[in-house]
Amino acid sequence: MSTLYKAVTVILPLLFTDVDECVIGTHTCPLNSVCNNTIGSFNCPVCKDGYEWTDSNQTACRDVDECKLKTHTCPENSVCNNTIGSFECPVCKDGYDWTDSNQTACEDVDECRLKTHTCPENSVCNNTIGSFECPRCKDGYDWTDSNQTACADINECDKLLDNCDPKHGVCTNTDGGHVCSCIYGFTGEFNCTEIKPGQTGLEEQQKYLVDSAAVFRMYALEAERQSLEKQLENVLRQCALVARKPTRGKRAVLAGSPAAINRVQVDSLINNLGVAIRKLKANILSAKKACGLA
Ligand SMILES: *[C@@H]1O[C@H](CO)[C@@H](O)[C@H](O)[C@H]1NC(C)=O
Ligand SMILES: *[C@@H]1O[C@H](CO)[C@@H](O)[C@H](O)[C@H]1NC(C)=O
Ligand SMILES: *[C@@H]1O[C@H](CO)[C@@H](O)[C@H](O)[C@H]1NC(C)=O
Ligand SMILES: *[C@@H]1O[C@H](CO)[C@@H](O)[C@H](O)[C@H]1NC(C)=O
Ligand SMILES: *[C@@H]1O[C@H](CO)[C@@H](O)[C@H](O)[C@H]1NC(C)=O
Ligand SMILES: *[C@@H]1O[C@H](CO)[C@@H](O)[C@H](O)[C@H]1NC(C)=O
Ligand SMILES: *[C@@H]1O[C@H](CO)[C@@H](O)[C@H](O)[C@H]1NC(C)=O
Repeated sequence: MSTLYKAVTVILPLLFTDVDECVIGTHTCPLNSVCNNTIGSFNCPVCKDGYEWTDSNQTACRDVDECKLKTHTCPENSVCNNTIGSFECPVCKDGYDWTDSNQTACEDVDECRLKTHTCPENSVCNNTIGSFECPRCKDGYDWTDSNQTACADINECDKLLDNCDPKHGVCTNTDGGHVCSCIYGFTGEFNCTEIKPGQTGLEEQQKYLVDSAAVFRMYALEAERQSLEKQLENVLRQCALVARKPTRGKRAVLAGSPAAINRVQVDSLINNLGVAIRKLKANILSAKKACGLA
């Protein structure tokens, strides 16, 4: 046989009957490496995508942490989660949400507009990229403490921050603000002007407006009544010492604040107080006489 014939009939068929170790699984490539069949053998040139050699001798493949190495392709502001052999982008970071159902990009969530913020009640919400902040309280409110955990109404009247008429104005605090009005006999809101006699509606207004002088007299009478009541109690106690009899004191509290009662009520209260005071004076006198203290 000629050498050429030998080459064609023996060596060529050998070449074409190569066993593909990669296909039949008899290769010894490391787990997760790529098997490359060669004529008569095989080699393992690289690790599969998402894996890398553990050492320069290429004896084993290990997972690549694309998230840590920042070789991932997750959209900006999404969360990267490494998986064995790959990575995934399951959610957007806090304060962000997917722009569409295909989850191709993350965009800032406006917590202020969506009302998902946790700013304290009556504070101002300011959206920021990826979050939100509560920089201050709404007008008319202020932080209750230095930690800025809650907003409370500012009492502009007590703090003298009101813009009511300084001479004849009345300031009434409201939630988040205050209202101005004028004392009896004056009209307006911020600038109080005196109601001239004969001006329309004056009589009607007078009937229901509380006269500050009348209120003053009412409180003076109430103070006198309370003082007389104490005097009476004291006299009765002194009498009890003499008579060894138990006594019972009684004290009335003036009902209604002056702002909630009108002129007619004030006049009626003054009248009642006058009656009560006369009675008390008489009682004190008779009590003293009865037990010989007069
Ligand atoms: C497969 O092995 C052959 C022979 O060694 C080589 O030429 C070829 O580049 C290898 N293929 C890959 C993908 O490494
Ligand atoms: C690679 O193999 C050589 C020869 O077996 C050995 O001397 C060397 O320590 C190995 N290197 C590593 C990083 O395992
Ligand atoms: C991250 O991937 C691991 C492994 O696949 C999985 O168990 C885990 O639930 C994933 N985390 C998130 C937040 O998707
Ligand atoms: C989501 O992807 C599909 C397939 O690529 C496309 O047909 C569809 O329009 C996409 N939807 C949105 C909301 O982008
Ligand atoms: C609101 O947030 C933006 C973005 O951080 C900032 O530029 C701006 O000054 C903030 N406004 C207030 C009132 O704090
Ligand atoms: C503010 O917060 C700190 C830390 O939580 C706390 O120690 C401190 O008592 C708080 N101050 C006020 C006024 O609530
Ligand atoms: C109140 O009156 C003063 C003086 O007449 C004037 O300057 C001011 O603008 C007035 N204020 C209001 C709120 O009307």
